[in-house]
Amino acid sequence: MTDIKKGLVGVVVDETAVSKVDPETNSLLYRGYPVQELAATQPFEAVAHLLWHGELPTDDELATLRAEERRHRALAPEVKAVIDLVPTAAHPMDEVRTAVSALGAAELGGLSAVASGGTAEQNLDRSLRLFAALPAIVAYGQRRRRGLEAIPPRDDLDYAANLLWMTFGEEPHPVVVDAFNRSMILYAEHSFNASTFTARVVTSTLSDLYSAVTAAIGALKGPLHGGANEAVLDIFDEIGEASNVVPWLDDALAQKRKIMGFGHRVYKRGDSRVPTMRAALESLVAHYDRPEVLELYTALETEFVNRKGIYPNLDYPSGPAYSLIGFDTLTFTPLFVAARVTGWTAHIMEQAASNALIRPLSAYTGPAQRRVPGYEPDE
Ligand code: CMC
Repeated sequence: MTDIKKGLVGVVVDETAVSKVDPETNSLLYRGYPVQELAATQPFEAVAHLLWHGELPTDDELATLRAEERRHRALAPEVKAVIDLVPTAAHPMDEVRTAVSALGAAELGGLSAVASGGTAEQNLDRSLRLFAALPAIVAYGQRRRRGLEAIPPRDDLDYAANLLWMTFGEEPHPVVVDAFNRSMILYAEHSFNASTFTARVVTSTLSDLYSAVTAAIGALKGPLHGGANEAVLDIFDEIGEASNVVPWLDDALAQKRKIMGFGHRVYKRGDSRVPTMRAALESLVAHYDRPEVLELYTALETEFVNRKGIYPNLDYPSGPAYSLIGFDTLTFTPLFVAARVTGWTAHIMEQAASNALIRPLSAYTGPAQRRVPGYEPDE
């Protein structure tokens, strides 16, 4: 009997030096650094550099990265034109996936499939371009669904503040920038999750970085993965207020519904990123004076953990945090893309540097060999 590991549960498929998830110590390290310490001290750009290069940037390196990021920030007219062809009723993840695919088609131009795989240097350059381009794509997505024009980037703002500026057209408050920057760092990387593994599978065929990221966006869209942050807000909207939690949960569990934002394949005693994001949410609740959001958050968490012993994951605090900032629920998972593109591209470069085609086996359960009706074998 073949030993099948459905869902690859517990299977170690390769090595990585990008990040380490340790559920025993409830820790997540990016290149050896605890993610909580990075979120408390670093701008997101520095974490991108860390993931790509293995070390935090020097002041000069950070200045260079920031200058390059600013150079590639603007929404390219050809990408905007492609986005405008996507119906506004489409899910924004379909829009982001299409925009990244269009960027790839423009960038790779007439290169053959073999040549478009790219060198290590080209892949680093493409990683930076995608990292720089995604905020304008995500911001424009939310704006056009509201019937608004795109807002050009501002060169005097760093990554996080500029993304908020391009979305809302207002100078963001430092409390908001800080909470948002933390969320981007917490979302940046998480070892061999489904979308990162997807990116590595595509890279393993020697396909190009844009194809790998496009496929990863498709994997991230699912509600068992990135789509959960959007689903958390849908649940909050359904429940309404803290006093409704108990009857709502009775009903949801009786229907065997999954409660989005809870549970994790790797962490079984709580997601290491949640306390940092919860603190960021608390700062936003105080800033916007919206205590009822935290009341509902705490009531559902307490009730669900008591009943099922299943803890919140990062999507649970990030959903209400993004909502308070003013993002539409449908924009949450695209924001996850803007963050996770740093981890995806670090893994793509790692996969390309020591590649083996990822091609597992399967146990066949279909019909035994049989003859096609009408086929006459040559004797
Ligand atoms: N609500 C209700 N029951 C749950 C939940 C939940 N959120 N999570 C797990 N369970 C139950 C599940 O029904 C199963 O019960 P039983 O053994 O009676 O059938 C048991 O716990 C084990 O769950 P599982 O789905 O087999 O465990 P898994 O390791 O395959 O799933 C998960 C992990 C994240 C897919 C799952 O916990 C889930 O569906 N959570 C909700 C979606 C979500 O929040 N996803 C975001 C994940 S973290 C961010 C990211 O990496 O993208």
